[in-house]
Amino acid sequence: MSFYEPYSELSQEAKSLDSAIASLMEELEATNWYHQRYETASDSDLKEIMLHNRDEEIEHCAMLIEWLRRNVPEFDRELRAYLFTDDRLTEVEASVTAAGSSGPPARNSLGIGSLRGR
Ligand SMILES: [Fe+2]
Repeated sequence: MSFYEPYSELSQEAKSLDSAIASLMEELEATNWYHQRYETASDSDLKEIMLHNRDEEIEHCAMLIEWLRRNVPEFDRELRAYLFTDDRLTEVEASVTAAGSSGPPARNSLGIGSLRGR
């Protein structure tokens, strides 16, 4: 748990967001660990297991990113802008802003209203 504010004052949305983000961080860390173990394993069977496990962690990362996209509109907007494009990533923001439809994410809200009622 990584709560920086009084737990009792946090909404269920904030708690769910924390859970998703903490889990994503753990999955990314595990991906890194398995990849390093894959690279250094000398036993071929163990090497294969490490690679398999790394790839499963990547799957878990993708599931959590998709949860964030579905539940936090700003993630949805940014992922739609940055994923699956061949554009230079440093130029995506400029093209999104120029398009004018969505603009930069709101800075004062996580916009997780869609979590309400869950
Ligand atoms: Fe995992």
